Amino acid sequence: MVWIGTSWKMNKTIGESREYARLLSEALAETPLPDAVQPFILPAHTSLAAVRDQLAGAPVLLGAQNAHWAAEGAGTGEVSMRMAADAGAQLVEMGHSERREQFGETDETVARKARAAVDHGLLPLICVGEPGAVRAAGDAERFVTAQVRAALSLLHPDEISQTLIAYEPVWAIGLAGTPATPEQVAPVMGRIAEEARRLGAGAGCRAVLYGGGVNAANAAALLRETPADGLFVGRAAWRVDGLLQLLAIGRQYIEAVPVVSSRTS
Ligand code: PGA
Repeated sequence: MVWIGTSWKMNKTIGESREYARLLSEALAETPLPDAVQPFILPAHTSLAAVRDQLAGAPVLLGAQNAHWAAEGAGTGEVSMRMAADAGAQLVEMGHSERREQFGETDETVARKARAAVDHGLLPLICVGEPGAVRAAGDAERFVTAQVRAALSLLHPDEISQTLIAYEPVWAIGLAGTPATPEQVAPVMGRIAEEARRLGAGAGCRAVLYGGGVNAANAAALLRETPADGLFVGRAAWRVDGLLQLLAIGRQYIEAVPVVSSRTS
């Protein structure tokens, strides 16, 4: 299974979101993807319900970019897991570096959000990643492992298989980022998968995704040359043709992976 998805971040009106979803469902109806390619999109909260209605049965998972851990209450400006699920979210992102930097999200709030997401039947999409200075100091694996351990700390080992973990090195994200090479990120991703297996009593997390500066030129190598189970994309998928191109790369990757026969001879 390969996961290919995008967060639209703080972009798109309801009308623009609906148009993207319409074009995406039409393209997927015309050229269906194999079941082993799982698309997902994370609109702004304001567009969630409209995108859910527009997708109407298309095989695309829908997610929220953030939600509060409490079910309801005095949380001015926030949306709860319950409300995100009600608007159509099936997964919920947490711990993105923009939220850690600009909105005070911490390992502790990420852990509470992961707990609340599972309690509300949502898949947590947990973002981790080291700042450039941490990598320069040779400390990326230790830093990211600590983030993973903290994020999963309120889950039962059996629940860890419901989580998606996105490795997003802070230095590789966005306009100011420097695209990462597979060699730079593969060891950290292997470490994340190993830590999730250790905490999840052997089962591990649902998927480890890579995000940060992904585009049509580097996507195939990031899938082939790292342990990534998928890609989490910003800018390169904000137009629907960008996402469709990345889905095609995901499909080629899946079709090239040798099928392991279950027959014994
Ligand atoms: P980008 O964003 O693909 O635009 O670098 C990635 C992310 O923040 O998830």
